[in-house]
Amino acid sequence: MLEHATTTTPALWWERDDLCFKDGELTLAGYSLAELARSGGTPAFFYNAERIRSKLQRLHDALGRTGLPYRIFYAMKANRFAPLLTFIRTTGLAGIDACSPQELQFALGCGFNAEDVSYTATSVSNEDLDILARHPGAIINCDSLSAIRRLGERCPGREIGLRINPAMGVGYGNNQLLQYSGGRTTKFGIYAEHFAEALALAAEHQLKVTRIHFHVGIGYLPPQLPLWEEVVKVCTGFIDQVPGLKSVNMGGGLGLPHVLSDQPLDLDEWAAIIQRHFGPRNVEVCVEPGDFIVKDSGVLLLQVNTVERKQQVDFVGVNGGFNLAVEPFFYDLPCEPVPCRIEDKAAYEPQRLKPVTIAGNINEALDIWAEQVPLPPLAEGDYLAFINAGGYASAMSSNHCMRGQFSERLLFPRE
Ligand SMILES: Cc1ncc(COP(=O)(O)O)c(C=O)c1O
Repeated sequence: MLEHATTTTPALWWERDDLCFKDGELTLAGYSLAELARSGGTPAFFYNAERIRSKLQRLHDALGRTGLPYRIFYAMKANRFAPLLTFIRTTGLAGIDACSPQELQFALGCGFNAEDVSYTATSVSNEDLDILARHPGAIINCDSLSAIRRLGERCPGREIGLRINPAMGVGYGNNQLLQYSGGRTTKFGIYAEHFAEALALAAEHQLKVTRIHFHVGIGYLPPQLPLWEEVVKVCTGFIDQVPGLKSVNMGGGLGLPHVLSDQPLDLDEWAAIIQRHFGPRNVEVCVEPGDFIVKDSGVLLLQVNTVERKQQVDFVGVNGGFNLAVEPFFYDLPCEPVPCRIEDKAAYEPQRLKPVTIAGNINEALDIWAEQVPLPPLAEGDYLAFINAGGYASAMSSNHCMRGQFSERLLFPRE
């Protein structure tokens, strides 16, 4: 199921009905982003609630077509803005994937029941396990033998899942930085050579293993699907060793386009892989995406404060840096800055675009949003929107240089 693009201008590949230029104004969910920036100030994140709901619905539709029982858990590490989490709860379309006691407690505070929370963490402390023990309904996946042993000491008899490591990974553009397994040995999950010992340890502590969990990387798109299918095949080797298995959690990692040449994930093709391998095993299938649900619902608005040529480079300085959205800087993910106001679409004709380098306001050399990116002319005081800022941006922000302040708002569409 591919998304219909609403634009014929290649540079505006990201336009869709709810995020597009209307009369020169960049709009999200029907709101002029320049107006929002002017009235509320910047830095500011805006998220389109309806986009989030529709992404969840698409996942439901695709998983529904597998004919298997399924559950969706939203990975709140991607974005934990309370109104957004509360909104997801009210849709009834997803539970929560949490990875720390704080996330678990925050999700409960947003109205989720412990039974709707799937918990998969790493380097788990005894204090973390003490808190989990107080929530017998929460679904726990252990990612190490140590966690199995210490959880077993606290709650014998509990049903658990095991996070496995298939020693293979996938990630956006085959970027190694985005892979959680494969290549080098990683901290995530239980490897095949330790799996029998993990099952024995669980049995020794009267823990019932009823789930297998794997999450191997982030941002996979159509070119990565064949490799993802290989991962799934390897995981079935683990699954077949667990008598009485009820459910398989395939983690998150579903990607979305970041540049013109990226195709959206074909959810039918994705669901067909699930059907092929888990259908015959007749288990419940679970997913816990973060990015896929929220990333393209959100934009980060910044204001241009400096336009200046230094040697041969035209710099555009903005009032926010890498501390507000680390992915382009740390993971090399493409970043798409868009002016909030243009005269008209002709402003995007190739001959009118000018390459500029967009610099943040943090005193670190890496604080460059994008280099030599062709944009319509910008002036000091203009607003820029960074699209695909709904996931792993505000949630990963820091107060470096004491520039960590921003506002967030969940938008409900207006005509
Ligand atoms: C265990 C686990 N599940 C789910 C996710 C969500 O991944 P994504 O946002 O790429 O879907 C992550 C991300 O780090 C994760 O570690």
